[in-house]
Amino acid sequence: MQEKQFEMWTEKHRPKDFSELAGQEQITKRLAEFAKNKNLPHMMFAGPAGCGKTTAALVMARSLFGDSWKHNFLDLNASDERGIDVIRNKVKEFARTKSLGSAPFKLVFLDEADALTTEAQNALRRTMENYTNTARFIISCNYSSKIIEPIQSRCAVFRFKPLAADHIEKQLSKIAAKENLKTTKSALPAAASLAEGDMRKAINILQAAAAVKDEISEDDIFEIASSAKPKEVEEMLANAVNGNFKAARENLKKLVIEQGLSGKDVISELHRQVFDLDVAEKAKISMLEKVGECEFRLSEGCDEIIQLESLLAQFALYSR
Ligand SMILES: Nc1ncnc2c1ncn2[C@@H]1O[C@H](COP(=O)(O)OP(=O)(O)OP(=O)(O)O)[C@@H](O)[C@H]1O
Ligand SMILES: [Mg+2]
Repeated sequence: MQEKQFEMWTEKHRPKDFSELAGQEQITKRLAEFAKNKNLPHMMFAGPAGCGKTTAALVMARSLFGDSWKHNFLDLNASDERGIDVIRNKVKEFARTKSLGSAPFKLVFLDEADALTTEAQNALRRTMENYTNTARFIISCNYSSKIIEPIQSRCAVFRFKPLAADHIEKQLSKIAAKENLKTTKSALPAAASLAEGDMRKAINILQAAAAVKDEISEDDIFEIASSAKPKEVEEMLANAVNGNFKAARENLKKLVIEQGLSGKDVISELHRQVFDLDVAEKAKISMLEKVGECEFRLSEGCDEIIQLESLLAQFALYSR
């Protein structure tokens, strides 16, 4: 029971098989095919955080090598290691011995490759060429545009997408069932939507909520994520555009001072909601422009309350 608290659910519930990976259907289909044939090219996995790149590489290793996958899989992080020489030496050491098991090569996973300089990437390219007979590389990055063309052209490129909210919700339900969690009906959809395509974020929010509550509600999720509840921001926005500036100010104080939300959280939620407002298109455009200006000022370190109040005051000018 106690151990439950200390084990990260992202690790505990990380998929071990291609069939358990949520979303990314086209990608998993091709990867499973490669694994079945024990034949794969060098690959590049590009895409945003928490959508399954590292997981897919680990599943590939399990699927290729079975129980001996750990002997045949080298996990490197481009931003951890001190320079490309360390990477080259580790690859050299690893690729010196033959693979154990049924695949004729070993697997090298290089995470955060977009952190490498162009020079280092050129060295990596040569390493990939030198060990092609004994090792396959999976290069993982958030932005493929930061990877030099000669590497891209040597790899089959897989573009991972942010995960859809319903895929995240389904995965959260599975985890909730395994962990015997009680949740209200709207709690998991809220976590899934807040995560914005990032499964790691969603699972971490759920685990944090589970650590403090026996039954998890939507409110708990918003509180843990310290994110603005859409309903409260909606009320503030409605008050502002209805010319009820004083009430809008009270709403804002509650969000920022009582609930401790950052100005940035409030602005992001406002930005989402301005689109749905029942005001003229032209007014919406001006309001979005003001949201952008306010966001910039906040990022420059201006006072949050003053900036957000000024934004609400400007919204009041568009009162219906
Ligand atoms: N498609 C998915 N299906 C099920 N679980 C997933 C999926 N993607 C991510 N996860 C969960 O989220 C955690 C983080 O995913 P992963 O390490 O694969 O992210 P990543 O794409 O490598 O992100 P980063 O760019 O930050 O390295 C995993 O441990 C797993 O529990
Ligand atoms: Mg990763």
